[in-house]
Amino acid sequence: PERATVLVASNRGPISITTDEHGHYRAQRGGGGLVSGLSALGHRPEYAGTQALWVCAALSETDRQAARSAPGGRLDQSSELAEHLESTSPGVQMLDIPVETFTGAYTTIANSVLWFVHHLLFDIPNHPQFDARFRERWEDYVAYNAAFGEALASAAAPGARVFVQDYHLALVPRMLRERRPDLRVSHFSHTPWAPVEYFRLLPPDIRVQLLDGMLGADHLGFHTQGWARAFTECCTAELPGEVAVSATNGWEIRRGGRVVRVGVHPLGVDAAGLRSRAAEADVAERRAELSEAVGDRKLLVRIDRTELSKNIVRGLAGFRELLQRHPEWRRAVTHLAFAYPSRTDVPEYRSYTESVRELAASINSEFGTEDWTPVLLEVRDDFARSLAAYQLADVLVVNPIRDGMNLVAKEGPILSERDSVLVLSTGAGAVEELGEDALLVHPYDVSATADALDTALRMPPGERQKRRERLADRAAQMPPHRWFTEQLTHLG
Ligand code: G6P
Repeated sequence: PERATVLVASNRGPISITTDEHGHYRAQRGGGGLVSGLSALGHRPEYAGTQALWVCAALSETDRQAARSAPGGRLDQSSELAEHLESTSPGVQMLDIPVETFTGAYTTIANSVLWFVHHLLFDIPNHPQFDARFRERWEDYVAYNAAFGEALASAAAPGARVFVQDYHLALVPRMLRERRPDLRVSHFSHTPWAPVEYFRLLPPDIRVQLLDGMLGADHLGFHTQGWARAFTECCTAELPGEVAVSATNGWEIRRGGRVVRVGVHPLGVDAAGLRSRAAEADVAERRAELSEAVGDRKLLVRIDRTELSKNIVRGLAGFRELLQRHPEWRRAVTHLAFAYPSRTDVPEYRSYTESVRELAASINSEFGTEDWTPVLLEVRDDFARSLAAYQLADVLVVNPIRDGMNLVAKEGPILSERDSVLVLSTGAGAVEELGEDALLVHPYDVSATADALDTALRMPPGERQKRRERLADRAAQMPPHRWFTEQLTHLG
């Protein structure tokens, strides 16, 4: 294949591979902003002639087999898969990284250390512990990053632009700069960034490797001012001599005679695309089922991946306190909580999901009646059902401890048919854009959450409508294709 002029690198790619009943490979498209952002390249005349390649890791055994059977891991070049991948925009290269290396890098370092640092999740008296095992896993992380660096360096055309995504791949920009100084490299963090003192929980050499790895890029992107500022503060504190100065829409960091730009690019929602997906028959079916289950009660909705950072337990505790302190809401409100299973290979995630289930069951046994179940908790994947819930919600609760952006807060107002009120945590990145029209809650304050639920349920129709319309406008301001093409332009 021709060498690529625009490359994206992320742990999870745009597709996953399954087999059909005859054992033939099938490609399943994933969702997410980046997938739709990149697909814009295929449809726009100004990008005609762009050779786009997405480099990702094989995540399952079937992914690995497919990657091994495709020339150079290029799934779009595989005889079995090529016809199923829409006209190869972009091409997809899956890296078959040895399972043990992958697990060390992804499960231990990325998801149990870096994710915990940026979302402030450590149970400090016991974790983290940086022992010999951690050091081995760190070597896995380095090797995993090197595998991406290698693949990108070989596949990129001279002067190509490379978009590296997230905390899994923090070391890649530096590795690429060393091998291919001709490339233009950007790194985007979809997560928050830790405050200096919390970042310092990591050992000094690891901190420097992470920051220095990212500073190998020309451009570093974050969803909010707050996360970008936290990153620059860590650089100033950890890398003596490197001073971040503020510049238009961000900062500049001088490093080794180069200037690295730190920019703020808040991702939004493709409103038209979301509305047309929500107009499909499966959503109407789910909507009818939900309406039937809820009847004429008010509907409170939350939709999250079952992640520690989503703060589901305190959210449910807020609902319990609402029912305790305001008996008038008993039998008058149903709380729908959809939890998408996530990272079940991390033990803390499994026990967290258990505590969510236990709390929901205990609220139901404390307050439930023959004809009313206060919390309807569903731990499974069902996108159509989530869209139906957005349509019907009276109140949408988004109360993460910390979150890079949180697109639930943006999708909800776009689809709401009942002018749902948004209860939003001050820890969500989305608060920078949506703060004025949401009811804000401090994520740890269960009583304040209960109060906000009460205020939301009582808000008069005119005010709900005004707020909901402004939220929907803001949410649609930066659809994925614009978000991505703006960054392409930034890289020059
Ligand atoms: C969330 C975060 C992303 C991250 C992704 C990884 O969506 O916002 O920053 O890349 O999780 O999730 P995964 O299921 O692939 O571990």
